[in-house]
Amino acid sequence: MPQKRHTQFRKPNGELYAEELFSTEGFSDVYSNIYHCYPPTRIIQVGDPVDVSPKVALDKQLLHRGFNGWNVAPKKDYLESRVPILVNNDLNISVAAPQESMKDYFFKNADADEMIFIHKGKGKLKTGFGELPFEYGDYVMVPRGCMYQIEFDSNDNRLLIVESFSPITYPKRYVNKYGQLLEHSPYCERDIMTPQNLQTIDEVGEFDFKIKKQGQLYPFMYANHPFDFVGWDGNSYPYTFSIHNFEPITGRIHQPPPVHQTFSARNFVICSFCPRLFDYHPLSIPAPYNHSNIDSDEVLYYVDGDFMSRKHVEKGMMTLHPGGIPHGPHPGTVEKSIGAKETHELAVMIDTFKPLQLTEQALAIEMPDYHKSWLE
Ligand SMILES: [Fe+2]
Repeated sequence: MPQKRHTQFRKPNGELYAEELFSTEGFSDVYSNIYHCYPPTRIIQVGDPVDVSPKVALDKQLLHRGFNGWNVAPKKDYLESRVPILVNNDLNISVAAPQESMKDYFFKNADADEMIFIHKGKGKLKTGFGELPFEYGDYVMVPRGCMYQIEFDSNDNRLLIVESFSPITYPKRYVNKYGQLLEHSPYCERDIMTPQNLQTIDEVGEFDFKIKKQGQLYPFMYANHPFDFVGWDGNSYPYTFSIHNFEPITGRIHQPPPVHQTFSARNFVICSFCPRLFDYHPLSIPAPYNHSNIDSDEVLYYVDGDFMSRKHVEKGMMTLHPGGIPHGPHPGTVEKSIGAKETHELAVMIDTFKPLQLTEQALAIEMPDYHKSWLE
């Protein structure tokens, strides 16, 4: 890296390395400075786009819904395996069961930041910034525009994916005025895994890309390998955070969902429900109270453990409790929770402040009559 940005930085043969500013909100928010062996602009050819935008089946609805997320068909190809279930203008929530690593192409999501939650599987995300090993419980966070290949060590993989059309950030209340995670935040910098093992791939040839923009997948061919970074610095890069490193905040009486918040984005939040000790007031009720979420649609994705507030829960099940009608614990679970000392539940919650729409694929994996599941 040169001592000063935007100055001459030369290869051993005297040619200049190519600097790229990877910046957000124009030049006004987080960015990284990248040095490439070759300019990142050398397009050989482009092909016809393929429309992969979600097909909405229900754009307006007011029912509690349940979906069997693990009922989506496994697919060899990673991108083809991604099945959008719930969508709106702020995010797409998908589930995926990819079987094979990406080998023949590189992917760039130019529409959205991605949160790839690893429910099952192991492997690594390969990027120009370096590699990110991942395993069960990891949130793999990919900023918009970051090119990657995903490599699996396993073929039975299960992912929950959020594409966010705004940056996914740490919640503001966890961060001090200098940008450091605060002492009361449920995780800190040491829990954030940054790219490692940067290997500069100095290769020219024909390299296939699929670039997602406005719901279209554009085939591009570039003249050099995209992972030709010789160095980078800055604050826009992929990282991983394990849900198992989220430190639960507990209390004498039931704590509200914001204590589980993990990430923020425009009009939605992502929360982690982790194994924890229950409330310790002598008369406490650990199960949640009924509540009217007046202005948010709540999506709960069940990962593992026992769920104290629900019956008939399976791994990969996803529920949608829309704003406008109350929801709460299932019959019998309130009494049953009293006296319990701890929970082993593990779940990811996504609360949106705008209504979610259901895709055709959502209806295909829907559990019938979920909305009546509160009757005795
Ligand atoms: Fe809720």
